[in-house]
Amino acid sequence: MARVSPQQFPNLTVLSHPLIQHKLTILRNKQTSTRDFKQLVNEIAMLMAYEVTKDLPLEAVEIETPLEKTTGSQVAGKKLTLVPILRAGLGMVEGISQLIPSARVGHIGLYRDHSTLQPVDYYFKIPSGEADRAFFLLDPMLATGGSAVAAVSALIRAGAQKIRFLCLVSAPEGVKAMLDAHPKVPVYAASLDRELNAKGYILPGLGDAGDRLFGTR
Ligand code: PRP
Ligand code: URA
Repeated sequence: MARVSPQQFPNLTVLSHPLIQHKLTILRNKQTSTRDFKQLVNEIAMLMAYEVTKDLPLEAVEIETPLEKTTGSQVAGKKLTLVPILRAGLGMVEGISQLIPSARVGHIGLYRDHSTLQPVDYYFKIPSGEADRAFFLLDPMLATGGSAVAAVSALIRAGAQKIRFLCLVSAPEGVKAMLDAHPKVPVYAASLDRELNAKGYILPGLGDAGDRLFGTR
């Protein structure tokens, strides 16, 4: 199948920083251990967060240095909120939290039914003040897009208005599903891969992200 170009998707930004791409290649390797996999997911998430937050609005703040008063800048608005989609999204939280220690963390529990590939939801908890918060929805894999679309819909139902979706590996099918369902939600990925296989796994992909992160199976 011909490779789909990221330019075909106006909602998608592929983060091509050399360190992200280097780490992603190690992540894809089936020889990579659970310990290294976990560390790499966090490192890539941290590097992605640096890029994804570069247009956050700032506001002026008066402070006093040891020498005099001055005006500095701080990120405006309520605390940023990370929302991992369980389980695999949890792997991205620690890395981003190191960069944004004040971030709040919500959780959305979803798993993909193995035969229908439809998302099944089992948990939802996010901090209050939804309408004013910037949400960063986290999941390493955007495959059919069913889980991401359902998670964004749940956030919107709860009142969220500013949502960005961060994943490591995306498939064209998933990016299109997000574009169709939630065209205003930006998708950031370390890679747009080729396609899905018959079981809904991303090719070349990195396998089952949850299993590789938590050493299950
Ligand atoms: C994986 C992944 C996404 C979902 C992507 O989770 O972490 O949440 O599949 O697939 P989709 O785009 O086709 O919905 P999984 O259902 O395996 O649950 P887990 O993280 O608990 O293992
Ligand atoms: N979920 C995963 O963990 N991996 C895939 O390739 C697709 C969905």
